[in-house]
Amino acid sequence: MGGRMLWLLVPVLFLCGTCWGRYVVEKNSLKVTSPNSLKGIYESAIGNFGVPQYGGTMVGIVAYPKANRKACHSFKDFDISYKSKPGGFPTFLLVDRGDCYFITKAWNAQNSGAAAVLVADNVAEPLITMNTPEEENSKADYLQNITIPSALISKSFGDRLKKAIENGDMVSVNLDWKESLPHPDNRVEYEFWTNSNNECGPKCDSQIQFFKNFKGAAQILEKKSYTQFTPHYITWYCAEIFLSSKRCKSQCINHGRYCAPDPEQDFSKGYDGKDVVMQNLRQVCLFKVANESGKPWLWWDYVTDFAIRCPMKEKKYTKGCAEEVINVYSI
Ligand SMILES: *[C@@H]1O[C@H](CO)[C@@H](O)[C@H](O)[C@H]1NC(C)=O
Ligand SMILES: *[C@@H]1O[C@H](CO)[C@@H](O)[C@H](O)[C@H]1NC(C)=O
Repeated sequence: MGGRMLWLLVPVLFLCGTCWGRYVVEKNSLKVTSPNSLKGIYESAIGNFGVPQYGGTMVGIVAYPKANRKACHSFKDFDISYKSKPGGFPTFLLVDRGDCYFITKAWNAQNSGAAAVLVADNVAEPLITMNTPEEENSKADYLQNITIPSALISKSFGDRLKKAIENGDMVSVNLDWKESLPHPDNRVEYEFWTNSNNECGPKCDSQIQFFKNFKGAAQILEKKSYTQFTPHYITWYCAEIFLSSKRCKSQCINHGRYCAPDPEQDFSKGYDGKDVVMQNLRQVCLFKVANESGKPWLWWDYVTDFAIRCPMKEKKYTKGCAEEVINVYSI
């Protein structure tokens, strides 16, 4: 693989730029099987806490509490329990959004014996991901103990469920996580965000360790077509007003368009950010070529070998070393 080829690949890196910070609301579908008037498939957004049953389904009966409808308090205080009787269907507890954190609602629902919690939105809007609170002091020491899955449903669907329950209908639903995994061709697709920088303390060390540990599994999954992975490299850009600064010049290529932080945080010694950008580019290039020749797994060999054979610590993080490692592969 010649050096010239690298430059053809700048657009690849650029493409990756467009997926920065991409924000995905993980959705699954909620299938109502009875009553007839509600039969159908509805969208729901999976909370980022609890344990979603990826690849599986769960059947239950929806209950809407008579009191504590926002589930901000323990249901014990209201003498309400949703423990399913032996042989009975599990309860999917429908609660209203608002007044307290989503995780508080999930925790109270779980303690009441519910098997899942459906939070009905209180405004008509596109579904969002129910987040764990960001505040450190939110006292969510029970967060890790939440095991029941949770899903946000739209206000209109919530209203229809409530109405059916009020009418005394038995609302039976099937929460389906099969669709929440991307699997256009029965493969799981995953993305791996990385950086070729190999001297940044514990973070870089743990990344190298991860390469070593996961490589074997990743390659088997890829060779057997169980997965399709895409590595991504983060790049920064330099704001226009700093373009002529020393910082931009040493950290960027292409006139400040693609940058990486200086590995030692010291512009006067060691490697510069632009060395990292160039090596990232080589790795993106290698992936592209390997992928096109049907051997995407070679990327794992390359990044692992590169990290071991071309460490910054030994001043070997160079084009020469990178190419020596690349030449081992006959792609
Ligand atoms: C969460 O689970 C751990 C381990 O089972 C337990 O020690 C802890 O008390 C639990 N926390 C809460 C708030 O229930
Ligand atoms: C890798 O190759 C597959 C199959 O040819 C293709 O669908 C996929 O988009 C490629 N990935 C990248 C990042 O080019």
